[in-house]
Amino acid sequence: MKIWFYAYASVVTFFWVATKLVNCQAAITGQWDFVGHSGVSSMHAILSPNTNKIVFIERVELTTNVTINGKPTYSVEYNLDTNEIRALTTLSNTFCSAGSYMKNGTILNLGGAEAQKGFAEGFNRVRLYNPCDDGTCDWQNDVNNLNAKRWYPTVEQLADGSLFIIGGSTQGAAVNNATINVASYEIYPSAPGETSIPLQFLVDSLPNNLYPCVHLLPDGTLFIMANQKAIVYDVISRQIKTNLPDVPRAARNYPLTGASSILPLDSSNNAEILVCGGGNQISPSKTVGEFSCARISPTSSNPTWEIEEMPFGRTMPDMTILADGTILILNGCNNGTAGFNKGSDPVLTPVIYNPKAPAGSRFTKMQPSYIPLSGSNPNNKPNVDGPYPTEFRVETFSPPYLFTGVPPPKIQQAPKDLKYGQSFDINYVAYSGTRKMTVNLHQPAPAGGAIAPPGPYLLNILDNGIPAKAAWVMLS
Ligand SMILES: *[C@@H]1O[C@H](CO)[C@@H](O)[C@H](O)[C@H]1NC(C)=O
Ligand SMILES: *[C@@H]1O[C@H](CO)[C@@H](O)[C@H](O)[C@H]1NC(C)=O
Ligand SMILES: *[C@@H]1O[C@H](CO)[C@@H](O)[C@H](O)[C@H]1NC(C)=O
Ligand SMILES: *[C@@H]1O[C@H](CO)[C@@H](O)[C@H](O)[C@H]1NC(C)=O
Repeated sequence: MKIWFYAYASVVTFFWVATKLVNCQAAITGQWDFVGHSGVSSMHAILSPNTNKIVFIERVELTTNVTINGKPTYSVEYNLDTNEIRALTTLSNTFCSAGSYMKNGTILNLGGAEAQKGFAEGFNRVRLYNPCDDGTCDWQNDVNNLNAKRWYPTVEQLADGSLFIIGGSTQGAAVNNATINVASYEIYPSAPGETSIPLQFLVDSLPNNLYPCVHLLPDGTLFIMANQKAIVYDVISRQIKTNLPDVPRAARNYPLTGASSILPLDSSNNAEILVCGGGNQISPSKTVGEFSCARISPTSSNPTWEIEEMPFGRTMPDMTILADGTILILNGCNNGTAGFNKGSDPVLTPVIYNPKAPAGSRFTKMQPSYIPLSGSNPNNKPNVDGPYPTEFRVETFSPPYLFTGVPPPKIQQAPKDLKYGQSFDINYVAYSGTRKMTVNLHQPAPAGGAIAPPGPYLLNILDNGIPAKAAWVMLS
């Protein structure tokens, strides 16, 4: 039995944690269900804390199916209980933006693209959404803009809950270059008078370095990867702590886009990063999905990349940590590069990666979806034809652990607020065959913000490998 803390970042697929009928195939490969329509293409998605709702954000263009007072809008709140949408106000162009939770639970979305269809330029905008469960909340502009224009930046929470905002370019581009490159980072909220801090790493990693991969490590430093380069960076001293070896085989960032995840931490707090897919340029005109995942312990004494082969190559994959500590890898395509209608040959079959299994047996193929490129919108016109029309259908994927035949455990009592280092009780009902029992666990909360930055989390228990429906908790 283990307790996992995790927050959902911007992923386009989310998960039911509910009782499912026993289904032998689904017990091995999971199950897709079509559940509703999103009204906007879900380029960005984030769970709204303390609710069972998810916020979708897309780019400003013509293919929205949602209006407010007759005017098109490009964000919605999607209700996971009813599968209904509520239109949210678009304040500026959110195309190519980035997002995070703030330490007080507010959702933040920043950066973006040029003015479009009467909507303001979004390059340096900061938009805030204070979650609610009563249908009254909406996006608001923060009075503080970013210090720099950022198209395709990355945002990561630091140990004190402030946000590290890195990279981007000053305009949209098929590939970054030295003229438009924003080779700096900034902290939000920034100290008075503080501006962007230059970072040579973002020059050295040109040109495939947009949306860099960034993960907070348990010692408070940051793992930063762009293109094939990777460093451990100390934000306090503003120094590179370790130059890591280059990531083997392929570029991993836009337009040769891969994905990355920190692996779930256990009590040893030895952080490992997993990077999967990307674009493998086999000739100047041909790029195929990269097959490899690369895994490293960035703060170990001799960090080296361990290479593993996925069952499929993938450019533009998404990765998300599941409730049992495995990693779901899905979406993406096998041909071409990201952006500008250059991707094709979608990879419909997700795989689950089990980081604890022996090397060589970590990947399991799941049930394929029949809908390609969820969360994508390559179209400027409201076309519903073509090989990849704008996609409004919402599917859920239920992992195999929901089909074991044993009802999932049920959390009866969990704290709503947790303090670092403090012990707490969690009470749940578990099933073993037809036997039902009540379990009380006494557990320590994470020791500090570098292990889990302050903010909203889903608190869960794992009983014989089966998670419960998670409970929202605020950690501070
Ligand atoms: C668009 O919205 C209308 C009504 O609001 C709905 O009937 C239709 O199914 C939606 N279409 C898509 C593709 O979501
Ligand atoms: C969280 O902090 C931000 C920035 O200070 C503020 O604008 C927002 O209203 C706060 N949210 C809540 C729920 O208090
Ligand atoms: C850099 O990229 C921009 C945007 O695509 C382009 O207009 C410009 O010509 C490029 N500059 C160089 C030196 O390649
Ligand atoms: C791969 O991309 C090229 C270039 O866009 C295209 O001509 C070709 O048809 C694509 N192949 C597949 C299998 O989608």
